[in-house]
Amino acid sequence: MSSAKRVALIGCGAICGNHIKGILAAGQTICALCDVLPEKAQQAIEKYQLKNVRAYTDYREMLKTEKPYAVHICTPHYLHAEMCAEALGLDIHVLCEKPLCISNEQLETIHRAKSGSRAQLGVCHQNRYEPNMRRLYEMTRNGVRGGFGNVVWKRDAAYYNSAEWRGTWNMEGGGVMINQALHTLDIMQWVCGMPKYVTAHIATDHLSDVMETEDTAMARFTCEDGTVFHFYATVSAETDFPVLMRVRLASGEIVEAENDLLTCNNALFERPDRGEAVGKREWGTGHRELIEDFYNCLATDTPFPIDLCEGEKVIRLILAMYRSKGERVAII
Ligand SMILES: NC(=O)c1ccc[n+]([C@@H]2O[C@H](COP(=O)([O-])OP(=O)(O)OC[C@H]3O[C@@H](n4cnc5c(N)ncnc54)[C@H](O)[C@@H]3O)[C@@H](O)[C@H]2O)c1
Repeated sequence: MSSAKRVALIGCGAICGNHIKGILAAGQTICALCDVLPEKAQQAIEKYQLKNVRAYTDYREMLKTEKPYAVHICTPHYLHAEMCAEALGLDIHVLCEKPLCISNEQLETIHRAKSGSRAQLGVCHQNRYEPNMRRLYEMTRNGVRGGFGNVVWKRDAAYYNSAEWRGTWNMEGGGVMINQALHTLDIMQWVCGMPKYVTAHIATDHLSDVMETEDTAMARFTCEDGTVFHFYATVSAETDFPVLMRVRLASGEIVEAENDLLTCNNALFERPDRGEAVGKREWGTGHRELIEDFYNCLATDTPFPIDLCEGEKVIRLILAMYRSKGERVAII
């Protein structure tokens, strides 16, 4: 474990507890929290019994005053790029919640900031740290022949009304794809390879009175070597079904369901011991391991594996899906 460094966090909403617990478990010290709503930072300080932590409402002031070793970005999607750029510009290491950003222009902003920075940028795709996902990744290193991913969940009007940024193009940057289904699509491309083309359809089938972005999406992805995989995602279901991925190999088929179940040619693998979950079940248990790995990489001056290059892949896929409108488009 690395020696304790001073870490700050921006955005004290639903996901912040996973980061606070992960930072402390990784042996780091939290020096400051920032939220535009002062009561949110205060609530987090009390809930997690943090000592000697300063609360800020202006993240720029916090970064300049505190000069933390690293900052965790847990704010609404449209703010990630400017916050990453600001911190990288000050050579502060960044762990950014997904999605890394919501447009190609924002990707360019992050690339510019990263190229002039001595700091590392990590993206929080914690599902890659789930034991089943690691096993799936290892089992597919000899090549895959295709597959599909399904995310069929329920998000209701109360969810979209719970914060002004949800369900908007300018602040959330999309709907089910850029928020809920991003993790599963990231795993599909991690396992099957980064596609070159996509043909996609998006729709607001059920929740058009409370959201302007898509609640449903489907896509056909094609990789350079001809491998095809399919994707279907919706938040218009009547309940949350387990996420499902099926991947075809030369020697059979792997099925993975909701981080819990893994079969290969119908043979069940031992269920992984996944440790304590913090927050919603579907967030999984990967935050703690990812955060620990992030600080180990920083301490040993090793590149963190989910860097800008890895974190942007799923963004490029989703932005291409949004551009597609039923036509085959190149992923740029
Ligand atoms: N990795 C995962 O599984 C996972 C799960 C849930 C959420 N997330 C991501 O975490 C991020 C936050 O989601 P959430 O559900 O916690 O949202 P939330 O709305 O509950 O919390 C966001 C917080 O950011 C604050 N904020 C807004 N603008 C700010 C600013 N300019 N400066 C400082 N604070 C500001 C808000 O007041 C709010 O407290 C999103 O990117 C979301 O997609 C990831």
